[in-house]
Amino acid sequence: MLSELKKQKRKYLKVSSKYATKTPKSKALYERAQKVLPEGVSYRIRFFEPYPFYTARSKGSKLYDVDGNEYIDFWLGHTALILGHSPLPVVKAVKEQLDNGTIYGTSHELEIKLAEQIAKMVLCAEMTRFANSGTEANMYAIRLARSYTGRSKIAKFEGGWHGGYDALHVGVKPPFDVPESAGLTAGVLQDTIVLPFNNLEGVRKKLAEEKVASITVEPVLGAGGCIPAEKEFLKGLRELCNEKDILLIFDEVITGFRMAPGGAQEYYGVRPDIVVFGKILGGGFPIGAFCGSKEIMARIDTRLYKRPANSFHGGTFAANPISMTAGLATLKQLENGRLIAELNKQGEAARKRLKECFEDGKIDVRVTGASSLFNVHFAREKIRNADDAVKADKNRLLDYNLNLITNGVFFLPGHNGALSTAHSKTDMEKLFHETEAYVARLKKK
Ligand SMILES: Cc1ncc(COP(=O)(O)O)c(C=O)c1O
Repeated sequence: MLSELKKQKRKYLKVSSKYATKTPKSKALYERAQKVLPEGVSYRIRFFEPYPFYTARSKGSKLYDVDGNEYIDFWLGHTALILGHSPLPVVKAVKEQLDNGTIYGTSHELEIKLAEQIAKMVLCAEMTRFANSGTEANMYAIRLARSYTGRSKIAKFEGGWHGGYDALHVGVKPPFDVPESAGLTAGVLQDTIVLPFNNLEGVRKKLAEEKVASITVEPVLGAGGCIPAEKEFLKGLRELCNEKDILLIFDEVITGFRMAPGGAQEYYGVRPDIVVFGKILGGGFPIGAFCGSKEIMARIDTRLYKRPANSFHGGTFAANPISMTAGLATLKQLENGRLIAELNKQGEAARKRLKECFEDGKIDVRVTGASSLFNVHFAREKIRNADDAVKADKNRLLDYNLNLITNGVFFLPGHNGALSTAHSKTDMEKLFHETEAYVARLKKK
């Protein structure tokens, strides 16, 4: 076992030194970064060993780093860029809007247009409020659920990632009972109940004696391993929420406008009470949104609900015209469902091909995902939840990811990949080819 680890480390050092040879300017930038940015980065997950490369520009399906290396990008700005980097219709619309103003701080028609567009595409989204990130939108969604139900406790799932908001920053990584961060109060930890994913009986048991305002669920666990919820599980959650007057919140920050024009709720045929969006909705610009029925969203209306019954939401950059413009241009491309259906097909094919690449090398791998999302786990057993995902060989995954990066294929190490309409057949073939080459190197060992 020890010698196996040593061997792995030696191989990792080898690929690491090849990466270093190709990225000297990135190395220098990382050294500078560490002096002014904690951990040298602006978001922990963007760091990977030995140091991250620094992007100089991006276009279509590609990132280009400061050393002139080209990468086919399967991370796509945290999966936000379903049309690829700087797609023409979005860039054109944003350029025009730049001349008309970047933030008004007043009401404007674009916010109505985007909310109308969302209502047209998403079943449960009669009304919308805009925020600046998925984290922020999830935070306001929880507040709304608490206001509506008059209950304090909330529930979420093991492995569910909804951003860094205290109440939802619980039970993200195993061990699920250890706080995810310093600075979370005892009250926060007590008020959030963490449930087992894809395990309806477990959920019922945990909530038997509890009165919670809401259950927040990612229809496909993203950071938790790109693990789709089973349809029966989501349907069961819907029934449980009906029985116990709990609001069902779908966090569709990843799945929204990707799995179907109407998001995961259309894909699965299960309607939540509140849906949270981010990423794709911003067309490459910062955004968050939470939406629901008129009855639920009415709690935000100060004319209808006065303090303390009112549920506050707002923000300086909320519904800024640039994000609204980019979002509208993006949704217009996606609304008829053709591009999404094509991407879903490609996603299915990619998962199959990746699986075959590893099977041919007799390597135990589980390829997870749904729609145009996928991830690779070096594990023998089926992956149904974040606990299963954590048992997979993480070192092997990082080694695979760094091998791909060194050969021009970018996944943020340890994270799921996504497809965009900018990915070409050649891009996909390169992913499979580099995976086969990696498998061949493993076999030679
Ligand atoms: C499912 C999900 N919800 C919420 C968030 C938080 O969104 P943001 O990073 O925009 O705050 C993320 C981010 O990765 C996410 O994947």
